Amino acid sequence: MTTPILEIRDLHVRVEDREILKGVNLVLPAGEVHAIMGRNGSGKSTLSYVLAGKEDYEVTEGEILLNGQNVLEMEPDERAVAGLFLAFQYPVEVPGVATMTFLKAAINAQRKARGESEISTPDFMRAVKEAGAQLAIDSDMLKRPLNVGFSGGEKKRAEILQMALLKPTLCVLDETDSGLDIDALQIVSKGVNALRSPERSMLVITHYQRLLNHIVPDVVHVFSDGRIVESGDKDLALQLEARGYADYEKDVA
Ligand SMILES: Nc1ncnc2c1ncn2[C@@H]1O[C@H](COP(=O)(O)OP(=O)(O)O)[C@@H](O)[C@H]1O
Ligand SMILES: [Mg+2]
Repeated sequence: MTTPILEIRDLHVRVEDREILKGVNLVLPAGEVHAIMGRNGSGKSTLSYVLAGKEDYEVTEGEILLNGQNVLEMEPDERAVAGLFLAFQYPVEVPGVATMTFLKAAINAQRKARGESEISTPDFMRAVKEAGAQLAIDSDMLKRPLNVGFSGGEKKRAEILQMALLKPTLCVLDETDSGLDIDALQIVSKGVNALRSPERSMLVITHYQRLLNHIVPDVVHVFSDGRIVESGDKDLALQLEARGYADYEKDVA
């Protein structure tokens, strides 16, 4: 069997002395898109923060493997170089730096860490123009500081643009649909779908089903009280939408 892009084994995580993740197991093979659904507070974002290597999240048990490499031993920037990209629910603002400049610096930081030469300005311009057009991002937006004063939709589109330029092997999208109107949702979904490839995997985290009409997952996992309690095909998302999460919570109480 080929090595999965992502493998999470019995992951337990504490935040401020409270156990939030209670034994997460997940295998994400190359080329697949998996969705994680679950109600607010079930621990979905905690999982994405742990993947990102955010401080204050204490892993007490378990492991995370990215292309077979131990992620928990890597610094956040090393994870990015290893092919991990995370799009967060609340993207950070980068005041004083034009989005364009930020994007080029991000690409070059990764190229440098991989021992590659810097991207040439014409190559960079071409790549930004191509990816930006697909996402309806104009040059005006690229001159503004990243995320500063961006609308919800603009933030998400800027994030997908970063993803398109950095070409990660694992994309984690946490609540990418929140704050999007229907038009923006379609643009973002189209951008994400264009990045689906046999070498790339995606983890799409959401508590609504509607995003999954546009980004159709291979597998849907239900998250409840810090673990995956059920997995199925895309129809599971529709069933959840109809019946809610109450069935799972009973076991918790
Ligand atoms: N930094 C933190 N400090 C204290 N509690 C936290 C922190 N982050 C998350 N939690 C708690 O962890 C639980 C899971 O939160 P989260 O992972 O954000 O869930 P979801 O993304 O599924 O809504 C919640 O009860 C939340 O209050
Ligand atoms: Mg969340």
